[in-house]
Amino acid sequence: MVEGRLSGVVLAGGTGSRLYPLTKVTNKHLLPVGGYPMIYYPIAKLVAAGITDVLVVTGLEHMGDVVNLLGSGRDWGARFTYRVQDEPGGIAQALALAEAFAGGGSTVVLLGDNIFEADITPFVDGFRAQPAGARLLLKSVNDPQRFGVAEVRDGRIVGIEEKPARPRSDLCVTGIYMYDARVFEFIRDLQPSARGELEISDVNNRYIAEESLHYDILPGWWTDAGTIASLQLANRLALELPAGGMPAGRTPAGVRA
Ligand code: DAU
Repeated sequence: MVEGRLSGVVLAGGTGSRLYPLTKVTNKHLLPVGGYPMIYYPIAKLVAAGITDVLVVTGLEHMGDVVNLLGSGRDWGARFTYRVQDEPGGIAQALALAEAFAGGGSTVVLLGDNIFEADITPFVDGFRAQPAGARLLLKSVNDPQRFGVAEVRDGRIVGIEEKPARPRSDLCVTGIYMYDARVFEFIRDLQPSARGELEISDVNNRYIAEESLHYDILPGWWTDAGTIASLQLANRLALELPAGGMPAGRTPAGVRA
């Protein structure tokens, strides 16, 4: 069994450069998706899975707006903590900021621009039940070269390539990750990639090397919202979610019914 406390992390830093100029004066995760700001969706997924201690990481420039929007978490029946990522040095660098918050426990990490249909509770339960290690959610996509791509053999992930020109499968690594406390050790060992970032795919490959990376296939629809096309798709799909995608009985104040 994965030991200890399980907390949530939403990564909402980065530059949003692929959405410029929509992101010239605001953070990507504050842009509208369906009836809500983008960042509501990953938070709603954590809260619906009973994960109510949540760290939000974002850049300095828009941290004030993010805190103004989300507040303490009281409206969600949750507790929000915030950390500033000084420069957008990659997803793994942003996650490293969660070490003290995680307090030696495990984390469910969601990328702030991932919008999807499924309830993650069964996968979080699967993670809790595994002996140690990490768990990913994979999704078959039409454009795998845009993502981290997993090669699966005999029911195990044997390798992950970040944005491969010639993908070995159509299985994208979604931005839904579950890690035991060793993740912070692995991040400390990382070197920046060719694009100058600490890559989450390198972290996942460390778990593969230790044979402790597990996965599920994410049911329902999934998209990121980091390009104009995917943001449009996310908007269309989010409008079809039951209760607009927000968890029943935990709707934050000011939210439409
Ligand atoms: O959406 C899933 C994909 O997300 C994965 O398949 C890839 O393996 C993973 O690298 C990532 O790829 P992207 O190119 O889409 O990552 P992007 O730079 O757009 O960042 C995604 C989110 O991560 C973003 O909404 C906020 C957060 N982030 C990103 C960076 C670079 C941070 O919090 N800090 C950062 O420095």
